[in-house]
Amino acid sequence: MASVSVDEAMRRAIALAARGLGATSPNPVVGCVLLDADGEVVGEGFHAYAGGPHAEIVALAQAGSRARGGTAVVTLEPCDHTGRTGPCSHALIAAGVARVVVAVPDPNPVASGGAATLRAAGVQVEVGVRAEEAEAGNVAWLTSMRRGWPYLIWKYAATLDGRSAAADGTSMWITSEASRIDVHALRGTVDAVIAGVGTVLADDPRLTARNLRDGTLAIRQPLRVVVDSSGRTPAQARVRDGAARTWVATAAEVGAGPDGRVDLAALLAELHHRGVRAALLEGGPTLAGAFLAAGLVDRIVGYVAPKLLGAGPTALLDAGVTTIADAIDLELTDVTQVGPDLRITALPRKREA
Ligand SMILES: NC(=O)c1ccc[n+]([C@@H]2O[C@H](COP(=O)([O-])OP(=O)(O)OC[C@H]3O[C@@H](n4cnc5c(N)ncnc54)[C@H](OP(=O)(O)O)[C@@H]3O)[C@@H](O)[C@H]2O)c1
Repeated sequence: MASVSVDEAMRRAIALAARGLGATSPNPVVGCVLLDADGEVVGEGFHAYAGGPHAEIVALAQAGSRARGGTAVVTLEPCDHTGRTGPCSHALIAAGVARVVVAVPDPNPVASGGAATLRAAGVQVEVGVRAEEAEAGNVAWLTSMRRGWPYLIWKYAATLDGRSAAADGTSMWITSEASRIDVHALRGTVDAVIAGVGTVLADDPRLTARNLRDGTLAIRQPLRVVVDSSGRTPAQARVRDGAARTWVATAAEVGAGPDGRVDLAALLAELHHRGVRAALLEGGPTLAGAFLAAGLVDRIVGYVAPKLLGAGPTALLDAGVTTIADAIDLELTDVTQVGPDLRITALPRKREA
């Protein structure tokens, strides 16, 4: 086999890492490519599920003795601690790897230190190759670990004039089946789906990740979270159907903000504590406005249907903006047509403190 450059190997490792998206929490996605001393690929691996072997271990097992004197190209700094599996730094040293090339350092204080251990053992370590690309592939986990609360994606559906229902309250369906299938795929990549009690009372959603055509549930289900200050979620609500874990988060349990409602920052901190790294906020306009006003939304995914209603509730209510100068500025990062609809992805620009 022809030899490949470290840069090409890192690109491949980043693609491998992405295969674990949605399945590794509370761990990161990680990919690894092992090159022998001549630069030929002798092993590849990715972290497929929490508790399973790390990417480096999978690649080392494939490479066997050919790892000796070679280079391990890894998207994240190899771990240095014994959790459900042993430290990857030690496994790389034991296999005789001569050089380790890392894209992003590990921000997790429990697992970091792999680079130092490798260096102390005489292994050459480089950090920062294709860092931006690897960072983007692991953005939810990295963001969540650095600051201690989950990466939050607000998803909504609306007509071209920004409405989420007609004047008579009907809203099924604003967007196409193609968009709704896309949303279920998005649910499959997060650890929790969040809705306000208003949405639960109005729509009685299941909030599961499933195949829309035959209703079968995805193997891995996000935690369903209902933000419900005083515990109004009915006993027979579909979110309580046992198809996935559900947490009805009340103000008594989480803590209350100045308005007596659930303290949203405390809610996110508790979700992080429960292992949630990426969460999808699915509704509705009151809760979305409150999360945006608090500056807690990291990404927005809007499904915009080519329809006009002219009247009816809007997709977003009070987000703390009263004058145009205070509008929440967004940076568009992607616009894709999904069936007849547009899926618009945007990042709120951070405000000056
Ligand atoms: N188009 C879309 O994408 C979309 C998505 C979802 C829902 N919807 C629509 O939205 C409608 C429901 O609207 P909604 O605004 O009532 O639903 P919501 O935003 O899901 O729920 C609002 C409720 O959340 C509770 N809450 C708890 N803590 C809060 C906090 N800190 N800040 C704000 N709210 C908090 C409040 O009730 P308590 O104070 O009692 O806790 C509040 O009334 C439905 O008709 C549904 O179809 C549309």
